[in-house]
Amino acid sequence: MKTFFRFVVVLLWCATAAVARLSKSMFRKDVHVLMYETDSSLEKDPRSPLHFFKERSNIAKLQTTVFGGDLAYHGFGDKYQTLRPLLELLDKSKLVILADARDVALNVPEDPEAASRAVDHFMETYHKLTKNAPNAIVMSAESQCCVSAMSHAHPGDYFDTQTMKRHKRACASGTQQCLWDENKNIYSWVEFMYERAFNDTGIDYIGDVYLNAGLMAGYPADLMKLLDTIDIGPSEDDQAVLSGLMYSFPELIVLDYDQEMFGNNQWPRGLEAGCVFETGQATSRLMHRETGTEPLIVHTPGKFYGCLDVLIEELGGNSQQRYLETHPNGNPRRTGESERARRRLGKEEEEDEDVKKKDSKKGVKGSEAEKDGSKTNPTLPEVGDLEETVDEKDKDDKDDDKTKKDKKDGGKVVEDTTEELVDDIQEALEESDESANYGPGYGQYGLSPYGLYGNYGNYGYGNYGSYGNYGNYGYGNYGYGSLQDVDVIGRRRRVRQAFREPRTSL
Ligand SMILES: *[C@@H]1O[C@H](CO)[C@@H](O)[C@H](O)[C@H]1NC(C)=O
Repeated sequence: MKTFFRFVVVLLWCATAAVARLSKSMFRKDVHVLMYETDSSLEKDPRSPLHFFKERSNIAKLQTTVFGGDLAYHGFGDKYQTLRPLLELLDKSKLVILADARDVALNVPEDPEAASRAVDHFMETYHKLTKNAPNAIVMSAESQCCVSAMSHAHPGDYFDTQTMKRHKRACASGTQQCLWDENKNIYSWVEFMYERAFNDTGIDYIGDVYLNAGLMAGYPADLMKLLDTIDIGPSEDDQAVLSGLMYSFPELIVLDYDQEMFGNNQWPRGLEAGCVFETGQATSRLMHRETGTEPLIVHTPGKFYGCLDVLIEELGGNSQQRYLETHPNGNPRRTGESERARRRLGKEEEEDEDVKKKDSKKGVKGSEAEKDGSKTNPTLPEVGDLEETVDEKDKDDKDDDKTKKDKKDGGKVVEDTTEELVDDIQEALEESDESANYGPGYGQYGLSPYGLYGNYGNYGYGNYGSYGNYGNYGYGNYGYGSLQDVDVIGRRRRVRQAFREPRTSL
């Protein structure tokens, strides 16, 4: 079987190489994108994300090779079986970006110079992030924990750190034997990921602390070493195995916590709040709404295709308009259906502040669009509204006595606004249950109201309190996962402020 794979890959490679030779001077020499896609027809469909990616990668002079075409599917591990021979053929000095093809967009504008600067920035960031671990692979970080395979293994189970050999195998997320269960394993992963983020960044990092295996970058020799070490089987869940690798061999993987190279959107929060990238006024690249970064590749894990298509259109491309499934009136950022979009377009600038305040008093149900039933799917409140609520709560935060009292009351927290907010979000969560399983071919993330944004802070497992953040959600301690999110956003903003200072500690 392996030989066969090799044969197919080499054939593919020869074809690509021939094309590459023809246009040799066309591409920059320091980086090469490898995209995994088993359906070879997608590249030709002018509305496919892959087509858009290739089109923009030409503008950026970024050589992009699609591999995996028409090979039989066994599981998430397939990608790695066919990768090695490709890496052997690549120039050692080229940074390799490994990306899934169906759910990513290349975040460069049509202007070739600006596109080229975006790739330069990517390269610089790779070197910055790996300064203390020069042979590490940089992987993308996301806010959602965890694939269901991870509930079947403790972080240390997959590798024997003495022999560097594989120990336990990861199950195939989404299959009957590998369903999600929120258990002690999950808490161990959560604790580990937060601790690592704290160690790496020097701050109580909130938000995108979890490894996402869909996007990574490294030099060929380092990627081959990674492949040899993970020794992954075709049906194993790669995100689980790589998360375990990061636990057992921390020096091999660095996460791009700030979403500087790779961006992940947040499917559990729905299209308007969770599609967290948007083009700013002054630039035509997508910027992360909360971190302010402009990663080269933007990813929509969780089959969040509606978001992907919104982003592709925002970058000026043609899309398959899959946002119509939840927003039948059209791309919400174009129809003005989204309050956020209207604000961004400056239409409500003057009254903006007042409106937001009022909305938060009303418990964020303020958006008319949400009331008129035009949205078929549950939609979480917009971040702007949440932030406003957080600000008010932050003030209360300082009032220790009050917080203590709230806790004593068994968490019958705070103001009416908050309770309404909780109800809204809980409702949305219950209705959106099915998105917890995206079935075979994608892995099954857990979606419980507790862990929605990966904050398990207060369940008494592990020593979260010692990091100073987990124990502090204050309003989210009693089963309202959504409230934790409210606080996360407030904190994240503060974290971002901390980040504007140069990182000196680590
Ligand atoms: C974080 O750093 C501490 C202190 O150096 C170390 O003991 C711990 O293992 C590290 N944890 C992780 C997850 O990197």
